[in-house]
Amino acid sequence: MSRILTGIQSSGRPHLGNILGAILPAIQLSNQPENESFFFIADLHSLTSLKDGEKRKEYTYAIAAAWLAFGFDTEKNVLWRQSRVAAHTEMAWFLNCYTPMNWLYTGAFEEKSSRTEGNSNVGLFTYPVLQAADILLYDANYVPVGKDQQQHLEITRDIANSFNHQHGEVLVVPEAKIREDVMVIPGVDGAKMSKSYNNYIDIFLPDKELLKVIKTIKTDSTPLEAPKNPDADIVFKLYSQIATVEQTEALRQKYLAGGFGYGHAKQELHELMLASFAEPRQKFNYYMENLPELDKELQKGEEKAHDIANRTLNRVRNVLGFD
Ligand code: TRP
Repeated sequence: MSRILTGIQSSGRPHLGNILGAILPAIQLSNQPENESFFFIADLHSLTSLKDGEKRKEYTYAIAAAWLAFGFDTEKNVLWRQSRVAAHTEMAWFLNCYTPMNWLYTGAFEEKSSRTEGNSNVGLFTYPVLQAADILLYDANYVPVGKDQQQHLEITRDIANSFNHQHGEVLVVPEAKIREDVMVIPGVDGAKMSKSYNNYIDIFLPDKELLKVIKTIKTDSTPLEAPKNPDADIVFKLYSQIATVEQTEALRQKYLAGGFGYGHAKQELHELMLASFAEPRQKFNYYMENLPELDKELQKGEEKAHDIANRTLNRVRNVLGFD
């Protein structure tokens, strides 16, 4: 049995890039019978950048609703809010004391603090230590993440090894499962889809609003009658990420034939999204309108997470003389 663990920061509503790049592949892994999955919402990490409590609450619920909407099985696995399991912050303190400061001047830290106009904070600096606590508390074997998280995973391994070196085999050293094969999902402007570039598509929007966003996708000025190059077009790229091989091939032929405009392609993308995501859209809205049910799911996960995390924390407390 392998234990898989991953987290998503609640610093925005989940968008198509998160869903195709992180949520769906993680759910696929979780459906393999030999795996047990621990997925959590890193709401404490979101505090390093987002200070608005109302927004955090909305985003936290939206991420939980998205996991459930895409079929994450909370009977077999565990889904929880990081902030509801106090062991994360306690473990992070212990691990802070095993982390040389110079490990934390990472590319991600430099990049994030350069965006704060001199208002960087210590939370941003120790971000990777809290992430290490998240992972080590659950004795995780594999952590599926995108390439941007590779350095954080190395820090987690280094911290675990440093702790074990001094205290014996207390912590399980995890392996990163870096998804190399993930195609970068383009945003409406063609750059990588990201909350910070404000170029994302929220697939849970009402029909008409979704169409409005799709209409903002940048296209070139090839006239309607002319044949078009599907491989140079963002609408086509997005379509092919969601569609079946046959559907993609059919759209490719329309591009190549001419007499088919980008407006038509956008309509097709809109229809495809409504059809392919019909069930998740409906479930997502159901949970967002029935928050007590969502809370129930999360609380169930929080109880399980609490028990497991505290077992590890007790091992750590023991060797440190805090028992
Ligand atoms: N830093 C991760 C990200 O921004 C989120 C995260 C927090 C995480 N804790 C984690 C991911 C633990 C994997 C494991 O994507």
